[in-house]
Amino acid sequence: MKHRFPDHLTSARLLLRRLQPTDAPTLCSYRSQPEVARYQSWETFGPDDAARLLDDQQDRDIGVPGTWLQVAIVEAATGQLIGDCGLHCLADEPQQFEIGITLDHTQQGKGYATEALQCLLHHLFTALSARRITATTDVLNDPAAALFRRLGFRQEAHHIEHRPYKGTLTSEFVFALLAREWALRSQPA
Ligand SMILES: CC(C)(COP(=O)(O)OP(=O)(O)OC[C@H]1O[C@@H](n2cnc3c(N)ncnc32)[C@H](O)[C@@H]1OP(=O)(O)O)[C@@H](O)C(=O)NCCC(=O)NCCS
Repeated sequence: MKHRFPDHLTSARLLLRRLQPTDAPTLCSYRSQPEVARYQSWETFGPDDAARLLDDQQDRDIGVPGTWLQVAIVEAATGQLIGDCGLHCLADEPQQFEIGITLDHTQQGKGYATEALQCLLHHLFTALSARRITATTDVLNDPAAALFRRLGFRQEAHHIEHRPYKGTLTSEFVFALLAREWALRSQPA
């Protein structure tokens, strides 16, 4: 279901909003950190990459089959852009989304990724009636796997050496969370 992403979503310490042109320098800065790029599709992220991404995201709605919406993660106390999260609405099943997340290396280890995804999962499962959400992580990317397990995702697959990646063959985990599983976890104790 096509839907306009709200002006912003808020959680205890974060504000989630659409990317905007003034984000370009910060995007380039944290996406080029070696620790951040290690398991991503890029090695470095320069002004041209940022311009392409921001141009592509202009007026992008959420829930359009076959498209990604990239959401900015902003620290509410400082107004600083600290990361971004990709929400991919599957082309052939618009109630299914794939997610990915990137956090500035200096902002990791504070629970921000968990908090941002909890907020976005709530939005996807309620406002967009998502049925199933998945995430794929490199098996060597321990913080990413820990993040999805912490959020209640089940590991559904372990693909071994299945994809060429940065000069090697990568192995990946696939994680998934169903709406009914999320609802059970969200019930008060
Ligand atoms: C994947 C990634 C977002 C995970 O980030 P992260 O900082 O480990 O995850 P969180 O922000 O949720 O922080 C969790 C950690 O903060 C700690 N923490 C500190 N204060 C906290 C708080 N107030 N609330 C919750 N957790 C807190 C937790 O204990 C946990 O630490 P631990 O892993 O040592 O147990 C990050 O590693 C990243 O951006 N990597 C590069 C990009 C990438 O590879 N993305 C994966 C593609 S899907």
